Amino acid sequence: MAYYKKIDGGKCYLSPINLEDSDLYTGWLNDPEVFRFLNLATVNITPEGERQALSLISQQHNYGILDSVEDKLIGICGFITLDQLNQSGECGIFIGEKGYWNRGYGSRALECLLYYGFEYLNLHNIMLQVYDFNERGIGCYKKCGFKEQGHRREALLREGKRWDIIQMDIIRDEFSWQPEK
Ligand SMILES: CC(C)(COP(=O)(O)OP(=O)(O)OC[C@H]1O[C@@H](n2cnc3c(N)ncnc32)[C@H](O)[C@@H]1OP(=O)(O)O)[C@@H](O)C(=O)NCCC(=O)NCCS
Repeated sequence: MAYYKKIDGGKCYLSPINLEDSDLYTGWLNDPEVFRFLNLATVNITPEGERQALSLISQQHNYGILDSVEDKLIGICGFITLDQLNQSGECGIFIGEKGYWNRGYGSRALECLLYYGFEYLNLHNIMLQVYDFNERGIGCYKKCGFKEQGHRREALLREGKRWDIIQMDIIRDEFSWQPEK
């Protein structure tokens, strides 16, 4: 089987990255409706480059997000940085299959990642960054328990406008895992 239920969230689960999926990731990262929310928007994502990038990040804590019903890959999430000394990390996520947006998959996948980060990687603080025009992203993160810690004002210039980059975080005591959700 190409996928493994490493962290099972019911409706979706997190599995190690399968390099055979690299063309799917390449397609998602070349879709303006997806990449406009990502810092990868300014990177040229080629099939070969994406395969190499996936090969590298798959060795760290980055995971495919799978719809449990069909074992269908819909996106990716993981830790961009991990600081074990201070027990803190930064995470990131995107769902490339746009038909899955706004259906609770992003928040559930992120809860799986938070559970793994707090319970197995022993993190205490997990943060993320989101552009202030990404209202769906902000809604998703608040649902998971993230709180805004501050705005880096007008730090992003995109589509002809300056936007704030919002930093959000959650600490271990604020998170409760519900396995049966
Ligand atoms: C951001 C992303 C991961 C969120 O995943 P998702 O599955 O769509 O999100 P969820 O359905 O779990 O939660 C979204 C919440 O935001 C709310 N929301 C959606 N659009 C909104 C808007 N315009 N204003 C306010 N809230 C909004 C939804 O109602 C939902 O909350 P609810 O379930 O309480 O109603 C996903 O949409 C995605 O990957 N988008 C493209 C790339 C991206 O933005 N990546 C993140 C970069 S920081």
